[in-house]
Formats: sequence, C-alpha cells, structure tokens
Amino acid sequence: MRFSTAFAASAIFALASGAVIGKRAPSGEATYYGGNLAGGACSFSTYTLPSSLFGTALSDSNWDDAAECGACISVTGPNGNSITAMIVDECPGCGLNHLDLFPNAFSTLAEPSIGVIDVTWDYITCPITTPLQLHNKDGVSAYWFSMQVVNANKRVTSLEVSTDGGKTWQQTTRQSYNFFENSSGFGTSSVDVKVTSVDGDVVIVNDVQVTPDSVVTASANFPSSGTVIITTTAVIPPPSTTTAEVLFSTSPEAPVLTSTPTPTTSGAAFVQAPAQGSTTSVEVVITTSSVAITPAATPIPSPAPEIVYVTIDACPA
Ligand SMILES: *[C@@H]1O[C@H](CO)[C@@H](O)[C@H](O)[C@H]1NC(C)=O
Repeated sequence: MRFSTAFAASAIFALASGAVIGKRAPSGEATYYGGNLAGGACSFSTYTLPSSLFGTALSDSNWDDAAECGACISVTGPNGNSITAMIVDECPGCGLNHLDLFPNAFSTLAEPSIGVIDVTWDYITCPITTPLQLHNKDGVSAYWFSMQVVNANKRVTSLEVSTDGGKTWQQTTRQSYNFFENSSGFGTSSVDVKVTSVDGDVVIVNDVQVTPDSVVTASANFPSSGTVIITTTAVIPPPSTTTAEVLFSTSPEAPVLTSTPTPTTSGAAFVQAPAQGSTTSVEVVITTSSVAITPAATPIPSPAPEIVYVTIDACPA
C-alpha cells in the first residue's frame, strides 16, 4: 500500500495517546477467587483470554448493567508491580472498586496467603490486536435479538442494528448478563451491526447472520480514539492500483464510499480526518482478484476525529 509515513506516524501517535482512557484511578481492595470466564456474569462463554491478559471480577457496586464487561484495567499492587486484566465477572457484595482477581493475577501482585491487598487501578486500551467479535446468543431469531461483543479493545457502550443498509439504526438494550437485546427482533435474519466504544469509535459489520450461538469476526477492532472504521462489501474487478474516495459528512447518508473504475484492492489505511462534507482519496494497491466497495452509512462524530481508519475488504473473484 502506498500510504505516506506521515499518516502512519500520526496513527501510531493516536494509538499511544489514546492508551489510557479516562482520568479516574480507582483504589480499593483486591481478593481472589477461582476465576470464572465462561460462566462469569459477562457471559464470555465463547472467549479465551489472550495470554497478555489476566481475568478479574469487579464489584457489583461498579457493575452498571455490565457496562464494565470486557474493559481492560491496569492494576498496581502493594509492591508497586502491575498486571493487566480484563473484567469478565461480577463480585457480588464487594465494596466500591473492589476487584476479585483470578488466582494467577493475585499471585503476580502478592503472596496468596495475604488474601486481601490494597490496589489502585485504571482503565487502559486492551492489548488486543485481533478483530472484535459479535456473538449471537442461543435462541435468537428474526423476532428476538440478543448479541454480545467479544474481544473488543475498549469498553463497548452501544450496539445498534440496521436493516436498511445503514440508513437508519435501531437500538438494543444492554442486559446485566452483557448481551445487547431487542425483544421484538428486527424481522430479518441478516443485519448490519454498529458497535460504539466509550470513546466514540465505531465499528460497522455488514451482513451479520442472526443465527443462534454463532460468532462473527469483524475485520477490525477499535483502532484509536475518535476513529471511525468503515468496513466495505461490494465487488470490483482487478488488478493493480486504485483509488477509493470517501465523502465525509454529518448527513444521515454519510460517509459515502465510491471508487474510480479499475480498482482492485485489499487493505486498510489511516488518513487525516478531512473537514466534514469534504472528500479524501485513499490509494490502495491490490493483491487479490477482486474488491468490494459499498457505501457505508456512518456520520462522523462531532468534533471530527483526527484520524480516520478506512478498510477495504478483498473478496474472492
Ligand atoms: C427495539 O427496537 C425498536 C426499533 O428501533 C425500538 O423502538 C425499541 O426501543 C427497541 N427495544 C429495546 C428493548 O431496545
């Protein structure tokens, strides 16, 4: 791909400066228990923690209808050393900011025989580089919608559904067991899903099948603060180099992704966020035989992000 190093550098800077989310640094007590990922209150039954992350339960005083599920935190113990953990379960009856750590997390901070330690902790972007996933609950159908987000690198605050190609988005409500539900469903078994992070980053996954117990892997995770990810689907003939043009606006249809003739592409790019209503071109070199570009319908948040991440998915011919 022919993207300038300036773009790459600013993207890296955005990632680095976005690493710590929020300003509060809660302190509280930490204990440990047997640990429960699959059966924990966040219902991460399909998930395996990456090796870079320990697991922890968080106090029900902080629970907020599972809003903390999947969040990553840096925890510093009494000896000054730190671990990184994902919140995967609830600790009933624990005090405010109390962490009930998985055993290996606790033993990395202190002798297990101590039992209870004082810790400080803060939210961080998860050290996850693989894409986020969407997990349909058992029992879903066109008439009952229930989906959770797994492996996201930031806290997820909303999940919306479109059945009209992204023109309009319909709400779901997060349940205390960490699924986003709509009790009447959306009347169809194939939907577009928009996931928004605590920082306003957006990932859109098109054509998600509403199939019980299924897991769909997106093409990306939340890349940096204030970023919009546009995932495309549609087909264009090969080969060589092409330009994808992206129109940014705050109107309901925006942004619209178009392409010049003869594109064949596969790749992703960070580009400087243009002014709303303007267009910018993304040049991509293709390696596969065909490429798909469809309009994606996501207004740029206001204020516009500094960096926009554009992905173009290659499809087999
Ligand atoms: C389900 O979607 C409809 C249509 O957008 C919305 O009016 C309703 O509030 C949603 N229900 C829940 C529980 O989120």
